[in-house]
Amino acid sequence: MARVNEHYLKLKAGYLFPEIGRRVKAFAAANPSAKVIRLGIGDVTRPLPPAVLSAFHDAVAELGNEKTFMGYGPEQGYDFLIDTVIRKSYGPLGVTLSPAEVFISDGSKCDTANILDIFALENRVAIGDPVYPVYNDTNVMIGRSGPADERGYYAGIVYLPCTEANGFFPAFPEEKVDIVYLCSPNNPTGAVATRGQLKGWVDYALANDAVILFDAAYEAFITEGGYPRSIYEVEGARKCAIEFRSFSKTAGFTGVRCALTVVPEGVTAKTPSGETVPLNRLWNRRQTTKFNGVSYPVQKAAAAVYSDEGWRQTKEIVDYYMGNARVIREGLTSAGLTVYGGVNAPYIWLKTPGGISSWDFFDKLLTECHVVGTPGSGFGPAGEGFFRLSAFGNRENVAEAVERIRKNLK
Ligand code: MLT
Repeated sequence: MARVNEHYLKLKAGYLFPEIGRRVKAFAAANPSAKVIRLGIGDVTRPLPPAVLSAFHDAVAELGNEKTFMGYGPEQGYDFLIDTVIRKSYGPLGVTLSPAEVFISDGSKCDTANILDIFALENRVAIGDPVYPVYNDTNVMIGRSGPADERGYYAGIVYLPCTEANGFFPAFPEEKVDIVYLCSPNNPTGAVATRGQLKGWVDYALANDAVILFDAAYEAFITEGGYPRSIYEVEGARKCAIEFRSFSKTAGFTGVRCALTVVPEGVTAKTPSGETVPLNRLWNRRQTTKFNGVSYPVQKAAAAVYSDEGWRQTKEIVDYYMGNARVIREGLTSAGLTVYGGVNAPYIWLKTPGGISSWDFFDKLLTECHVVGTPGSGFGPAGEGFFRLSAFGNRENVAEAVERIRKNLK
């Protein structure tokens, strides 16, 4: 008889965002006249920048012509996109990468999950709390943890609290870990790591032979100067860090799907017999075996993000979302809420009023204001008492949602 991967059965609840979707759908069905404003999942609402759309169209047309048609592309991505990313995205940061270090993919969610393929189960993994749920759940799925306790902590995973007291940036664990996930700008707290903070973790990783999985999906939303947009701006990171970046939120690609993962040649791990193996080689092997690359038109569209016109238009969209973030942050602060994030990240992380639980606040906002957010406890036990609002809505809806919440809290 076929047996299931029983590690899946350890997972406590359904994946966070479908669970929220289910509750919202039930509410909307029971209240058909309610105008529900969705600021829960961080899904974009602005259309693709025109220069990107035009490149997308052109590339689709090429596929309709026998002379320019193409089938399978390189699993790692087309050179034109890899070169563009290296030159236009990393170049200005003073980061030099070789083309073989960049892997184009269909999403950072998938890559942060799939990267686990190349690591032994015995590795000790540390994740933040609260955290983007994919890091936790995929480690459980692959069998790196025991069952969850009553608070929601899985045995065997090291949780690093990210609290008001530490500015939502994790301190080093007391026990040695082999892999640590960092996300900056942070989802869900909206905190952004300083150079010094990242340097601390790079030094930790180098001293402990650990690997940092650095999720930089929101780097385009850093508005203040001085914060690193890539971990490779920090000396030593090329020896210990894998970085994930995405076109999803930056350029409206949540449905289109394009991202990239950087695995520098200097990042290594050990075999049981102590041999050093470059992780780049393993990731390349993994991708060429399990992945057939991102479609040509999508990669053409992604490359157009970095054209002069494409970048100007993309920047306008990023500014628009950060304008939303300001509306939420200022509106809710003046309503007396304690609010974090929203300055260098498209997420606002607020303390639930009167200490009510995250899910109770979710229900209150949904039923009384018809506004959807994400309960902080869905990102981990330390998120209890917090609530996340996404800045990716359209401005009118965002302003209306803030007004409804303000009136409700009066
Ligand atoms: C979120 O809301 O946290 C994101 O949309 C999830 C994702 O990017 O997968």
